[in-house]
Amino acid sequence: MNLTLTTEWQALQLHKSRLEHQHLRDFFAADPERFNHFSLELEDLLVDYSKQRLDSAALDALVALAKSTDVAGWRDRMFAGEKINFSEDRAVLHTALRHTAFTPFPNADEDVMPQVRAVRQRMRDIVERVRSGLWRGFKGDAIQTVVNIGIGGSDLGPKLATRALSAVQHPGLKFYFVSNLDSAHLAPLLEKLDPRTTLFIVASKTFTTQETSLNAHTARTWLMAAAMEEWAIAKHFIAVTSSPGKAHEFGIPEANILQIWDWVGGRYSLWSAVGLSVALAIGMHGFERLLEGAETMDKHFCNTPLEKNMPVLLALISIWNTNFLGAETTAVLPYNESMRHLPAFLQQLEMESNGKTVSRDGEPLTCRANPIVWGEIGVNGQHAFFQLLHQGGWLIPCDFVVAASSDYPLPGHQAPLLANCLAQSAALAFGKTEAQARSELSAAGLNEASITKLLPHKVFAGNQPSTTILMPSLDPFQLGMLLALYEHKVFVQGVIWGINSFDQWGVELGKQLANRLLPTLKGDLSHDAQLDASTSGLIAYFRRHGNC
Ligand code: F6P
Repeated sequence: MNLTLTTEWQALQLHKSRLEHQHLRDFFAADPERFNHFSLELEDLLVDYSKQRLDSAALDALVALAKSTDVAGWRDRMFAGEKINFSEDRAVLHTALRHTAFTPFPNADEDVMPQVRAVRQRMRDIVERVRSGLWRGFKGDAIQTVVNIGIGGSDLGPKLATRALSAVQHPGLKFYFVSNLDSAHLAPLLEKLDPRTTLFIVASKTFTTQETSLNAHTARTWLMAAAMEEWAIAKHFIAVTSSPGKAHEFGIPEANILQIWDWVGGRYSLWSAVGLSVALAIGMHGFERLLEGAETMDKHFCNTPLEKNMPVLLALISIWNTNFLGAETTAVLPYNESMRHLPAFLQQLEMESNGKTVSRDGEPLTCRANPIVWGEIGVNGQHAFFQLLHQGGWLIPCDFVVAASSDYPLPGHQAPLLANCLAQSAALAFGKTEAQARSELSAAGLNEASITKLLPHKVFAGNQPSTTILMPSLDPFQLGMLLALYEHKVFVQGVIWGINSFDQWGVELGKQLANRLLPTLKGDLSHDAQLDASTSGLIAYFRRHGNC
């Protein structure tokens, strides 16, 4: 099916022609109740999309697109455990991981809940032993430091959630996340850690990922240098994987291996035992609140009409901005310091899921899919790249994300933080007209010549669309809702674009080439002739200057 030739798409083209030159100032002037009409609240999570450049008619047309592409049908197939990740022949059931009732997972053919509950129980056991000090290291000491070794989905989700909830973490435990192959990530950490009190979680779905494997081996060597005895591994290493055999070969005993399943995608795995670091940080009750938050969003996604469905609306708005208004990138701007890893998490979630040009049927897509996702802590961005958002002439939709109350309150900080967040989305939306700029300059006492000179620099075009997502506070439940909201948004977009959002073949080529280059980098010249001139030249440089 050529999506762009459908009646629904064509209808949206007409709405685009109607609205593309309309300013957000006009949208707000036309409807004083716009905030009420274009915002939704679920369990205190507020999504305000009133600063998006569309009206009810365009939104209805977008919902019609969602209906015509069978978003509801695909959603039901996903929840039913159908193998919608057909290129890997896998079901997509991360939502079962946050099913908290003692009932089978609704609709799924095969009841995965007994295994999910069994692993959750083992997590609970580990979490209680570590947090209470009962889990002892090879010299009998309680654990003080947890190091998660993983990358991609085995790093970004747990790192985001652990940092986001750090205000309520166990006071006696420190958490670190190591992902980079560069030894500068692990080496300085090992220098300051005590092997007697350090627990490593090796999180890797496949247990073959080069980065994780190398870091885990180095960590093991470091531990063995102090402990001298193989049995110490059982005291200091836990594996989370869908390949228990490989974890066992590494030397981790079965009792320390927590299973995930092939129906959990890496970037959707926070809710599984991959979230062990989060559970160690905030306790199993806190982790279950995270799951409950996500489950609340799942239920909303499944049971709410598309017109009022948060993830569906976020997906449709993003499609509107990308495919109709022509945005090529989108910025994620968390204002809470503790949410600093949200942009990186969403980069993987969105771009690894939907960064594709081929449809489920293997046909080229007829429109561009996912925009480039990037972002930074909002206030830091204000003093860096916001200039371009305000006056750079690019259309860059933004997501502002902020909690109403501070997780680390200090007198006088929260109101300015919130004021900045609100001010930026308003400034981006409404800008400053020439008339406003002129009257400000004149009120400041400038003469006509100076005003004329300065005026072009003082005008803000505005009309930069944004969505603002507010939470009362950074608590596990709210965070769970927020992350599940984005997961389902990505899913809906994938369905509409006709993509399989759950594979990631695009990351394979680089991995293969890296493995092929390794011998050459280490000095084996026999493969040199097969290399392209650029790679050969760069390798020659490494040979001259590197310390491989
Ligand atoms: O290379 C991409 C990727 O496969 C991601 O999808 C995944 O989250 C990451 O690598 C880590 O994979 P693993 O958990 O198997 O180590």
